[in-house]
Amino acid sequence: MRSWQDAYLMVSAAAASQFPRHERAEIALAGRSNVGKSSLINRLAGRKNLARTSQTPGKTRTLNFYAIDERLCLVDLPGYGFARVPKSERMRWGKLIDEYLTTREQLVGVIQVVDVRHPPSELDVMMADWLRQRGLPAIVVATKADKIARGRWKGRADAIQRDLEMPVILFSAVTGEGAQAVHRWIASVAGTGKKS
Ligand code: GTP
Ligand code: MG
Repeated sequence: MRSWQDAYLMVSAAAASQFPRHERAEIALAGRSNVGKSSLINRLAGRKNLARTSQTPGKTRTLNFYAIDERLCLVDLPGYGFARVPKSERMRWGKLIDEYLTTREQLVGVIQVVDVRHPPSELDVMMADWLRQRGLPAIVVATKADKIARGRWKGRADAIQRDLEMPVILFSAVTGEGAQAVHRWIASVAGTGKKS
């Protein structure tokens, strides 16, 4: 499966009034700060610098809407659980993310991103519970797989699957491992698969 043809940043929204008006199917990426959400978007799009990445956690502070081809939109959510951001700002993001996830009509699925090396945090578990309750199609992408030995992949994926009770795709933004599986999941949920 090839990468998307066309991808661009539509808008960085700091308030709900800035969410774009369109009929694209939206897939949101949620996860702890610094876990690799923006890198995942870049890998999927086959572009190095579409989404800003950084070693400094808390880089993505707005909801970033990326238009993909004709009918898809990826939404990069600010990372949750980042302590060094002032509490008032964290609450503001929290509210905005919450509002987005609970009211956004275009939202058809959520990719929850975790670091394959670490057990899911309390916030990860809360997010997973919430997604299940809401009944929204959701998948876990366990990223940074290149940072552990291949022999540990299955064990880690199984443990994360047990903790979050969701299907898990192992992924690496460095090697591209798992990218096809994520592409396929997005296409099936967003209905953007190739019709023949
Ligand atoms: P926030 O915007 O702060 O929420 O972070 P984010 O989740 O968007 O993370 P980002 O994509 O900026 O990546 C954070 C750091 O992890 C960067 O230094 C990336 O280069 C690194 N990184 C992301 N994915 C991978 C991966 O699959 N493998 C390796 N080795 N490093 C990765
Ligand atoms: Mg980011």
